[in-house]
Amino acid sequence: MNKFETALTDELRNALNALLQLVYEHTGEDFRQYKHPTMLRRVLRRVEAEQVDGLDGLLKKASQDRDCLARLRAALTLHVTSMFRDPSFFLQLREQVVPYLSTYPHPRIWVAGCSTGQELFSLRILLEEAGLGERCTLYGTDLSESVLTTAHSGMVDASLLGDYEANYRAAGGTCRFLDYFEVADGHSRFRPHLLGNAVFAVHNLVSDMSFNEFHLVSCRNVLMYLDHRAQARAFSMIHESLTPLGFLALGSSESLMNSTHQRDYERIDAHEPLFRRMR
Ligand SMILES: C[S@@+](CC[C@H](N)C(=O)[O-])C[C@H]1O[C@@H](n2cnc3c(N)ncnc32)[C@H](O)[C@@H]1O
Repeated sequence: MNKFETALTDELRNALNALLQLVYEHTGEDFRQYKHPTMLRRVLRRVEAEQVDGLDGLLKKASQDRDCLARLRAALTLHVTSMFRDPSFFLQLREQVVPYLSTYPHPRIWVAGCSTGQELFSLRILLEEAGLGERCTLYGTDLSESVLTTAHSGMVDASLLGDYEANYRAAGGTCRFLDYFEVADGHSRFRPHLLGNAVFAVHNLVSDMSFNEFHLVSCRNVLMYLDHRAQARAFSMIHESLTPLGFLALGSSESLMNSTHQRDYERIDAHEPLFRRMR
């Protein structure tokens, strides 16, 4: 147990629930089923930044001040991402999954919890290099509309391109990485034609339904923030969204442990969280 778990007394838990309830009632976004220690950590940062007296003080301020509520809501989600994050994972995806995708006339790929798009851009590059660029469709979804606007624009921070390129190489990339971007005046943009077959939409993994069938679902570094029940629900919805023999990609510290469908999947790599739906 970490210090946040031990610190979660009934009183703290109730105060946290009241804050999450307030966010839910005013924004419709439901964080009540996220892991409480994580939520508490993020809320405590707001307590400090808003200079209020504990969680009760934050509840009072957020109930009366819409900007404070908006800042609290924004603090509850982390959008950290990068291109070819965990390069060894993308290397295995390139070698073990993409060749199967090429057997479908129109592969459909869903990047769930895509944040500002870097994971989807990375996948798009893998597909381009496998000659699938024209016949695949990518769906990028997230809880947050603002990150999807950024993803859709293709804009990436130019100062990060060096790091992204290093990841790309470590993930087996051999082409000219910068050719995938328009770079001008300190701005860089993923080339628009590469996003011609990408669709971005708001979708909540906990409360929304399955909306299509996919040959690959990549849901990385999202489910780890959910409590067990919410994870189980999200896994069932993802399971419904996968074609038989479809692939599921998770984040490096995620597993199918909280899924009732665990036995329906085969792990296809000993080190990377890549699974195939067998039943
Ligand atoms: C840490 S980022 C991970 C981004 C990307 N998948 C990666 O691994 O680089 C987590 C993203 O999941 C989104 N998210 C959190 N809860 C979600 C939910 N219930 N449904 C859909 N997206 C969610 C957040 O808004 C955030 O953009």
